[in-house]
Amino acid sequence: MKRQLTGLIALTAVGMAAIAGCSSERTDDAAAPSAATTGGSDATVCIEPGSVIGVALPQKTSENWVLAEDLFNTGLTDAGYEAIVQFANSGVTEQQNQIDSMVERGAKVIVVGAIDGSQLGSQLENAKASGATILAYDRLVKNTEAVDAYIAFDNYQVGVLQGTALLEGLAARKGDGPYNIELIAGSPDDANATPFFEGAMSVLQPKIDDGTLTVVSGQTTFEQVATQGWKAENAQKRMDTVLAGSYAGDVKLDGILSPNDTLARAALTAVEQAGKDVPVITGQDSEVESVKSIMEGVQYSTIYKDTRELVAQTIASIDALASCGDIPINDTEQYDNGVKIVPAFLLTPKIVTQDNAADTYAEDPTLGPVVAEYAG
Ligand code: BGC
Repeated sequence: MKRQLTGLIALTAVGMAAIAGCSSERTDDAAAPSAATTGGSDATVCIEPGSVIGVALPQKTSENWVLAEDLFNTGLTDAGYEAIVQFANSGVTEQQNQIDSMVERGAKVIVVGAIDGSQLGSQLENAKASGATILAYDRLVKNTEAVDAYIAFDNYQVGVLQGTALLEGLAARKGDGPYNIELIAGSPDDANATPFFEGAMSVLQPKIDDGTLTVVSGQTTFEQVATQGWKAENAQKRMDTVLAGSYAGDVKLDGILSPNDTLARAALTAVEQAGKDVPVITGQDSEVESVKSIMEGVQYSTIYKDTRELVAQTIASIDALASCGDIPINDTEQYDNGVKIVPAFLLTPKIVTQDNAADTYAEDPTLGPVVAEYAG
């Protein structure tokens, strides 16, 4: 504990902290009882160079996950680890089995991008008991002690930026209010979907209350506007129904809060099919098709969460364990997973509109050239 506190004090001075990576010292004797089962977090774990590292990714619901697969494979292999990087496209059971098999293969760290953050407790507890360190990646895992750290972009801030962009876009493109809008949220099983929505509503609710914004469908709760599985067809279906029911005739739809780019494009398809004008619509992930749409003046905004940065931060945490150091942490308050506050390293998301796209993506090897096509 002393070591941990010393680290905390030293690093907090520059706005950072660090936690001991895991609960027990590594042992090479597989038969030795592991102190990890006690769940303490005051001893530093050391993993060996070349250790097996498991990365359990969810489904390919957006481009950032596909990019992460590639970056983890390359980054971990280049750093000398033995990487097992797997998607669980058929769902939660597959992801549970994958984690079990990573443990069987001796994984020393398991990085988890959960499909359903509440359904991995027993697998992760088992992994922890085997001595593995558990890093929640991008999505928090809920209701379990068996998670050492969370590495993500600041999800609440993503929502705040989306809500702010929607208001700015409405003022810029739709004249004076009041404005008619609709809300879309992400998947209820993804722990990120709630902070995205709450962050956005922290900006939008006061404007609904003062009459600047009207949600014509009346659907304003997370449950009413959530999109199961982050699936485009689910968002499109709901928008079809809302448009047919609440926007018949000349009722105009000025704006849509969309939590990511995939769902933004789905909603725009519904709007187009309903014969309405293009609304101001937000997004997230900086997917290529949406960045093009932004440059063409259709989608209003997206969020840039550079996956290279997130994967690099995760691999840096693993490297810290390989040198018997502490996992870098800069937040010890925000992420309560139901049984504990999970120490987190939060990166800063950026809002992107047509105005700042060229600057924001200048260094991005995929998006830089996409945006450059629209220059001049
Ligand atoms: C990620 C988003 C992504 C969504 C759907 C979330 O957990 O944070 O970036 O759009 O999953 O894949």
